[in-house]
Amino acid sequence: MKKPVGQLLDWYENNRRILPWREDPSPYHVWISEIMLQQTRVEAVKPYYTRFLENLPDIEALSRVPEDALLKLWEGLGYYSRARNLKRAAEIIMREHDGQMPETPEELVKLPGIGCYTAGAIASIAFGGRFPAVDGNALRIWTRVHADSRDIMKESTKRALRAQIEAILPDAPFAAGRFNQALMDLGSAVCLPNSMPKCTECPWKTNCLAHGQGRETDYPVTAAKKARRIEKRTIFVIEDEGCVLIRKRPQKGLLAGLYELPGAEGHLNRKEALAFCESLGIRALKITPLPPAKHIFTHIEWHMTGYRIRVDALSDFFPEQMQAVLAGKQDIATRYSIPSAFSNYILYIT
Ligand code: ADE
Repeated sequence: MKKPVGQLLDWYENNRRILPWREDPSPYHVWISEIMLQQTRVEAVKPYYTRFLENLPDIEALSRVPEDALLKLWEGLGYYSRARNLKRAAEIIMREHDGQMPETPEELVKLPGIGCYTAGAIASIAFGGRFPAVDGNALRIWTRVHADSRDIMKESTKRALRAQIEAILPDAPFAAGRFNQALMDLGSAVCLPNSMPKCTECPWKTNCLAHGQGRETDYPVTAAKKARRIEKRTIFVIEDEGCVLIRKRPQKGLLAGLYELPGAEGHLNRKEALAFCESLGIRALKITPLPPAKHIFTHIEWHMTGYRIRVDALSDFFPEQMQAVLAGKQDIATRYSIPSAFSNYILYIT
């Protein structure tokens, strides 16, 4: 009988997904794909990945890209600090590593945006080293196979499980990379979260303790998460003949440095909305309420209402510190990166 590692590698050989970043798994390609995949689904990442590499084919190009162009390539993926960290890391690689991606997890985790998982993925998939890359999929599979009820939100549990997985990694060059990717694919196609696992298709069904007990869905154990903070906001679509007012958000905090439709705290009534416009030096000709919308960030939920404001002449004498821009529809499509939190209101730009 084959051992569990061999069973998993055989399953991977026959069931592996065809993915763009697996065609030519260079260190740069694996790095970019892993960062994009951190908080985003595989299907959503594919077109972004292709376009990103067309525009920025190597580490040097990434290190030189202007920030606004980079954020435009990232628009829609969210978690924009990932993109900024990529550029900062590329600059460090150019300056301190002669333009070559470092090979070991110890060196890789020193770069901005690269944590333990990503370092293991690059070192094992691109460089062929024997290192674990333990993500949520791996933790779910492992705790089910071992009926392990420790809380996987705890760092100490993650460390312990990572050590267990590391101990069984295969030795041959690039085999650990295949093993790590096999866990990713098994987690996304078979050992699915919640009540969905397809245990009959699993190469480990005979040695999975949770399956043996019919308790797959009891694992992994995760302590309850803190509730998100709810923030009420009013969003303004302020327009004048095909131009809309956008402004740059502060360089720190939520959606740092990205462009936004102007907004105010709270759900403003009509009178308060007009007063807000006046505070920006804008005289409204017409004000129309817009439907409510929600956007969910990691720790915050925005509950929004909005107004479309038609003005006489939007001028360019907004105060410097407001960093406001009058943008046409085309500018918004091609130049300014406006995060998806505003997508329900961007729709109303005429
Ligand atoms: N999820 C995270 N990294 C992945 C990869 N390299 N392949 C497929 N899914 C992934």
